[in-house]
Formats: sequence, structure tokens, C-alpha cells
Amino acid sequence: TAGGSDAAKRRAGERAADEVADGAVVGLGTGSTTAHAIRALGRAVDDGLTIRGVPTSFQSRQLALEVGIPLTTLDAVETVDIAIDGADQVADDPESAGHGALIKGGGAAHTREKVVDAAADRFVVVADPSKLAATLERAVPIEVIPDAHTVVADRVRDLGGEPTLREAGAKDGPVVTDNGNLVLDCEFGAIDDPGDLATRLSRLPGVLEHGLFVDLADVTYVGTESGVETREY
Ligand code: A5P
Repeated sequence: TAGGSDAAKRRAGERAADEVADGAVVGLGTGSTTAHAIRALGRAVDDGLTIRGVPTSFQSRQLALEVGIPLTTLDAVETVDIAIDGADQVADDPESAGHGALIKGGGAAHTREKVVDAAADRFVVVADPSKLAATLERAVPIEVIPDAHTVVADRVRDLGGEPTLREAGAKDGPVVTDNGNLVLDCEFGAIDDPGDLATRLSRLPGVLEHGLFVDLADVTYVGTESGVETREY
């Protein structure tokens, strides 16, 4: 996702990696901010830290292999101790019911991310200030099984949204997820009640998972030009 300096993302990612304890099973999120955490964990493994990573995408798996983090799968572990993951937008108004809700899926990885992040004892979000918004307002990515994309798009319009099938590029056709599905990016304008919209979207037949993460995050580390700000939920 564009926006935010790499230095700020790196501060957030490294702060999250710092809190991974020896022996931990770690959910490895997707995106450029989490990549800094994965690289930091790779260096820690070189220095003797013993961890096992559960990747959330082909991309995070490749990076974890490259930096030498031993990998495992959800069905092979008792618990995921901590998950570290980025976000496309973070609701940042302590007065609002949706405080700490996220929009994810900019990399089409939100289904596996949600499974791993929700399974974790502690879910740490890493972000930079460009991700913070008083009210969520970005398009919500929805992973749909291919046969259902037109009927889900109709139902999204019924709910007041404007769906767009995500395209990879002029000659490449639609984006296909790691699970072999399609993505509808759905504009709803300002999302005042993310929990309510999340429930409505989850109910639609053909929706595998949507990118609203409500009541899942435990903390957000916001990397800035000078340090790291913390939001606890
Ligand atoms: C992947 O599908 C997304 O949920 C990412 O976690 C999100 O796009 C964050 O990526 P950046 O850290 O690159 O902004």
C-alpha cells in the first residue's frame, strides 16, 4: 500500500518483533510494514531466538523462508502466541465504538490473515500515521468464490456499497487470491459502525471473508518519523 515512509514502517515492525518471546509461535502477516518485522525476526533467529512462524500468504511465506524463520501450520500447533500484521486503515477515535477496527486485504491476503490473527493470543498491528483515520472509509475488500462474484456484487449494492472486481493489470485479468478466489473492492463511504457492516457482509452467500477486522486487534504500533506510538484496545 502506498503512503507512509519506509523508516516509519520499519520502526513499527521492529517494535512488534521485539516483543516476540523465545519459543513463540508467531503469525506472520502480509505487506510492507510486516515485512520489516519478519526481517527483524530473521535476524533474531540468526542470533539464537527459537520461534516458529505461521505465514498468512505466499508472500510472507517466501520472505520468512528467505530470512530463515522455521515455519509451521495452524493445524500443527496448540496456540499462536502472537500475530503481527499490517493494515490498510486503522480506526483511531477512542470515542467511537469501532476504535481499533481495521480494513485489510489491500494485498488480497485478508482471509488467511484473519484466521491467523484471530487465532493468536495477542494480535499486534503495525502501521504508520498514513493508515490512521477517525472513521474507516477505504474500500472494503471482499474475497468471493468466483461463481458468486456477480450475485455478491448485487447484494453489496443493496447494502449501499459500490463493488469493483479487482484487476491485476490490463492484460492479466482479475486478481486471484492464494485460495483461488476473486476480490471485490467495495466502497461504502464512511463506515460509522464497522461491526454492523461486518455482520451483514459475513451473511452473504459466496463471501469467503471480508477485510473488516472488528474487535480483533490488541494493540497498534504506529511508527512515526521519530519513534513509535502505541494504541492499546
Ligand atoms: C494484505 O492483504 C493486507 O491486509 C496488508 O496487511 C495491508 O495491505 C498492509 O500492507 P502495508 O504494510 O504494505 O501497507
